[in-house]
Amino acid sequence: LTRDMFVRNGIDLSPNAKTVLERRYLKKDIDGRIQETPAQMFHRVARHIAKAEKNYDENADIRKVTETFYNLMTDFRFLPNSPTLMNAGRRLGQLAACFVLPVEDSMEGIFSSLKNAAVIHKSGGGTGFSFSRLRPKNSMVGTTGGIASGPISFMKIFNTATEQVKQGGTRRGANMAILRVDHPDIMEFIHCKTANTELNNFNISVGITEAFMEAVQSDAEYDLIDPRDRRPVARLNARQVYADLVEQAWKNGDPGIVFLDRINRDNPTPELGEIESTNPCGEQPLLPMEACNLGSINLAKFVTGSADAARIDYESLKETVWTAVRFLDNTIDMSRYPLAEIDRMVKGNRKIGLGIMGFADLLFQLQIPYSSERALEVAEEVMGFIQAESHKASFELAKQRGTFPNREKSCFGGDSQKAYRNATTTTIAPTGTLSIISNCSSGIEPLFALSFVRTVMDNDKLMEVNPYFEAVARQQGFYSEALMEDIAGAGTIAHMDGIPEDIKNVFVTAHDISPEWHLRMQAAFQNHTDNAVSKTVNLARDATVEDVRKIYDLAWQLGCKGVTIYRDGSKENQVLSFSSAK
Ligand code: CDP
Repeated sequence: LTRDMFVRNGIDLSPNAKTVLERRYLKKDIDGRIQETPAQMFHRVARHIAKAEKNYDENADIRKVTETFYNLMTDFRFLPNSPTLMNAGRRLGQLAACFVLPVEDSMEGIFSSLKNAAVIHKSGGGTGFSFSRLRPKNSMVGTTGGIASGPISFMKIFNTATEQVKQGGTRRGANMAILRVDHPDIMEFIHCKTANTELNNFNISVGITEAFMEAVQSDAEYDLIDPRDRRPVARLNARQVYADLVEQAWKNGDPGIVFLDRINRDNPTPELGEIESTNPCGEQPLLPMEACNLGSINLAKFVTGSADAARIDYESLKETVWTAVRFLDNTIDMSRYPLAEIDRMVKGNRKIGLGIMGFADLLFQLQIPYSSERALEVAEEVMGFIQAESHKASFELAKQRGTFPNREKSCFGGDSQKAYRNATTTTIAPTGTLSIISNCSSGIEPLFALSFVRTVMDNDKLMEVNPYFEAVARQQGFYSEALMEDIAGAGTIAHMDGIPEDIKNVFVTAHDISPEWHLRMQAAFQNHTDNAVSKTVNLARDATVEDVRKIYDLAWQLGCKGVTIYRDGSKENQVLSFSSAK
């Protein structure tokens, strides 16, 4: 370690974090031999992102900023999204996780979008598409006199291409496909994932309009509209369509729904266009050709005070929010975007998406049950704080660096109080891998299991117990290997003997929590998030279609921007299962 004098030995990495970094993140040579340590990786990232400071101040102390960023990451207070960790300071140099690409209604448009998606996947980014502009199946094709094959058949081509391009040689590209509920092919879309196994690289969501939801309420018909001339071509009964999409979601989790009108109500730059799609996991609505880099604060690291008087350390959290905003704003400058047009869009709006992970761990430390009014209050309070501080930080940055160039054309235009550097600052991502690297609970999700058996490479079985639960169990004297194994088998402690009631109340897991509570938590966070919130509403295997409908209704009533459900056992390859997680 020549340059990184301040690199402390011993970053506190869990065995899983180490494995994930070695498999996917650390620089490798052509023969696959690892070329850097985790410390060197974090230093590579910190140094590269710090370099942006020179764009604004030629006397900037890059070394000092590098050190600040390095400490931020290696204390696991904050991590940028995976492409930044993988690509910063390396040849690809593409740092954003989220992209939305337009799909125009022409062969040229469709295939240029396909090519752009491949390039993005190669760099570790995920792509969202709206297929709503494509003419419906069986429409006339003017130039050939033939008939169009429609959005779903083109989705299959995108799916196949994705299959062939593994992201950055590591993870497979994720895609989101959205079709407006008033597109003439909507029924085929709703059923497309059960009918086609060849759409496995897509999450799909129906783009719901307010007009449609009102038609559902009043049991009315609504118009299907040809996207080419906006003329109504048929009518469907809204309740029937809603019933079908709910039933499909009950069967296999797809389609989700996104509330397009609501998303566009929060579109900061309507003059630049309408938002038609989100990124693959739904948390980041974007304009066509826009990208966004995300980053997540690990809330588990911001608890102070003794165990029975634990509280959130807001001073420290504030400092982290400000540094993270600066980090993410720098990332925009340091990323190499795959297309000039994307570069222009991103630098025009400078959207960033700061979010959180470790929320369930925070609640464990505060001894607050996830499904409680108190937990909702904590969610609103902590996210309200992060959102407000991130806006202030963005405002201060704008004083030094200028506002985002499209600000005059944005909804903040005339308001000098809102002279921000970034058109948006907050997004709550799933943090699928970031949470493994940080050894914390993912995003705002409750824990999936308090203890589980992990099968490691050579088929050894390793018992993993949530550290907060283990600490309490040891302290209160009910810890035993046998009990932890029983818990791994049961997936919940709700019905276990020998565990005090107050512990049972606090240490709830995904399946102890009713779907309504999952959704209320999502809504609490959405209230304080500029973009959207990634959340899975878990349902038990025996949940009914009616249960799913209630969740979809409630998501609309509570002001969510979308909803994704997952009924236990409804997908063939469930990623985590209770006693034999991967
Ligand atoms: O934890 P990590 O930064 O790896 O990612 P995440 O928070 O789980 O996902 C954030 C976003 O990254 C997703 O919404 C996708 O846009 C993208 N992603 C992807 O394209 N492919 C994956 N396999 C995982 C994530």
